[in-house]
Amino acid sequence: MAAIVAVRSGRSVGAAQLVRWRFTLEEGRARRRPAFSRMASSPAPASAAAPPFGRLLTSFPRLFSEPVAYFTSLADEFGDCVRLKFGRSDLYLIHDCAMIRDLLVNEGASLEKFPRVQPELGLFGEGLLTSEEPVHMRQRRLMQPAFHQGRIEAYGRTMVECAAELAAEWRPGAPVDLAAEMNRLTLEIICRTMFGGSAREISAEVAHHLEIILPMLNSLVAPWGRLKLSLPLPAVRRYFAALRGLDRILYRLIEQRRAEGADRGDLLGMLLAARDEGREGMTDRELRDEVMTIFVAGHETTANGLAWTWYLLDRHPDIRLALERELDGVLGGRPPGPADYPNLAYTQAVVKEAMRLYPPVWILGRRALREVELGGQRFPARTVFIVCLYALHRRPALYPRAGEFLPERWLTSNAPPNRFAYLPFGAGSRLCIGERFAWMEAVMVLAALAREFRARVDPGAAVEPLGLLTLRPRYGVPARLVRRVADAG
Ligand code: HEM
Repeated sequence: MAAIVAVRSGRSVGAAQLVRWRFTLEEGRARRRPAFSRMASSPAPASAAAPPFGRLLTSFPRLFSEPVAYFTSLADEFGDCVRLKFGRSDLYLIHDCAMIRDLLVNEGASLEKFPRVQPELGLFGEGLLTSEEPVHMRQRRLMQPAFHQGRIEAYGRTMVECAAELAAEWRPGAPVDLAAEMNRLTLEIICRTMFGGSAREISAEVAHHLEIILPMLNSLVAPWGRLKLSLPLPAVRRYFAALRGLDRILYRLIEQRRAEGADRGDLLGMLLAARDEGREGMTDRELRDEVMTIFVAGHETTANGLAWTWYLLDRHPDIRLALERELDGVLGGRPPGPADYPNLAYTQAVVKEAMRLYPPVWILGRRALREVELGGQRFPARTVFIVCLYALHRRPALYPRAGEFLPERWLTSNAPPNRFAYLPFGAGSRLCIGERFAWMEAVMVLAALAREFRARVDPGAAVEPLGLLTLRPRYGVPARLVRRVADAG
């Protein structure tokens, strides 16, 4: 059983007040929702202890400026289960595999996602990422066929096609920001896999709207986000205008496709054709919410995973050479295809190891709807649990040489040391529905680009993690491209 350490926040700290304010908002909303159990809740586990107050006071502002480093340092210092006390609410930072298993799998039905994305944002609606039961389970069943293996292979061809078009644009010696390039590429991929033939006409317009919406999202889900939403700021007006623009495109496409009645083999066609045990398919509103969810959940994550991979390959030339050897050997100078996926074991290991060190979704949050039991300990309703995947994936007790980039660790055994020690895609009923899509995409894109190009990251560049909705490189990955010839040393 994990040792539990309690961390109590100070009353007069500005940042602490912000957090408390958010918790109060959340609690206010929770009180209006009947889902929370009214049953008497058990006290917090007795083994809780408090670290020095002064230590917390000085470190607390880092929760806002460097949340990834903040959570990681708490885990390093206080262990696998740390208790943070905010006013009346308890928050536990957990990195104990048995507790995580109970949190995500065994007790999954007794918890909701935390924080909840405010409906006022008008973005995801009742989409898969944010909906709760029973809506979530129905939508998940409807959407599952769109992500079956056969479909993924078809999407894989589109992924390679998009990567080849990007490679044709890249100029050796030219400066690029690889983070921005990977974002551009994965957005094009999601547009084409989603809309098939129609994507060419609309992808620039969709990209334009998303470029306004996505940066705002990061600040709107922050504690002061609601306040910002209600202010007559130009940025907020632009956000809602872009959202309306995107909605118009999506509803128009949905209407056209319904009228055509044909499944063109793209994601939208699959979602339109989805039926639930003889019942009607999705309404226009449900379709719109799911398409929007997939746009947002399905491109920046993979883009960040790839950006970190390029960065790590530049820092480890021996690993980059081994990757290139595999690409030359398997592909023999031709572009990759989905059928090559099983033969690109080292490429897969490189991506897997990059996502261990820099998990694109770096944090999972849940809140108890009723009393729950994790790792044999009881926690009352309303307790909030955070798993910092960045910290979990670097726990020395779970991974030998945890801080090092060693793709080889996945070659001897593809399985993590514990099923709940490697969770870039989460687990349980909320496991990422796009996991297979993402693996295919990351491996195909890396193979298609790395067989032709190397990236030399600017020597003076500060490439460090920034924990927003996803884990992105704070200042991008500025680099210069070098064209490689097969077998170059
Ligand atoms: C490397 C890329 C990706 C990573 C690391 C990733 C990670 C995750 C994680 C950790 C979750 C679970 C969140 C939680 O439990 O709170 C999740 C959920 C989800 N992801 Fe992904 N994802 C990736 C790519 C994709 C792609 C490509 C798509 C769609 C095409 C997608 C669609 C979704 C959706 C719809 C959910 C919600 C699933 C549900 O709650 O039932 N993701 N993702």
